[in-house]
Amino acid sequence: MCKYQAYRQMNYEIKIKNGVSLTELEQFAEMYAAAYNAEPWNDSWTRETATALLTCYYSTPRFMGWAARQGDIIIGCAVGNIEPYYSGDIFVLKEMFVSVNSQGSGAGSCLLTAIKDDLKKMDIKMIILSTRKPIFDFYIKSGFREMEGVGTMIYAYQNN
Ligand SMILES: CC(C)(COP(=O)(O)OP(=O)(O)OC[C@H]1O[C@@H](n2cnc3c(N)ncnc32)[C@H](O)[C@@H]1OP(=O)(O)O)[C@@H](O)C(=O)NCCC(=O)NCCS
Repeated sequence: MCKYQAYRQMNYEIKIKNGVSLTELEQFAEMYAAAYNAEPWNDSWTRETATALLTCYYSTPRFMGWAARQGDIIIGCAVGNIEPYYSGDIFVLKEMFVSVNSQGSGAGSCLLTAIKDDLKKMDIKMIILSTRKPIFDFYIKSGFREMEGVGTMIYAYQNN
């Protein structure tokens, strides 16, 4: 049972599992696509492209994944990998998503609490992630802060 009882509904119980198999990840692809095709991302993921991305993450060295379950239903997932850094190992949180119908009821913060607890036990020095402005508040409420002077750059090829 999840010790991270979510806060809004007294009977809302989330179980977090650390350790996600490739088969499970492939099953989460639909949930991933629905979550990122909605606001504020408005992406155009399909089950196939989402499966390819999650499979790619799964292949990274020192991959770690967590799944959040309510009853028998998976309602959220987080994946990333441990990387070496000059100050010690860090965790790069690549993706974190909650099924559209379960968002806003504490599953995301419950997942983050489990991730932070598990990684602390592994002597991980910090967790880093990239996200969009509207989502900043979600992470700030869980103790994250914005890195000053750091941004993401892209070089986009133009279609001829
Ligand atoms: C972002 C996401 C993981 C948050 O999970 P969640 O279960 O909906 O969030 P919670 O219910 O645990 O919210 C915890 C707090 O963060 C806030 N929060 C959640 N999503 C937010 C958002 N998109 N923007 C601003 N604040 C947000 C909540 O209002 C809540 O604040 P409160 O405690 O003061 O009421 C989820 O909405 C999601 O999967 N979104 C689509 C995919 C995505 O954006 N993933 C993150 C990419 S880095």
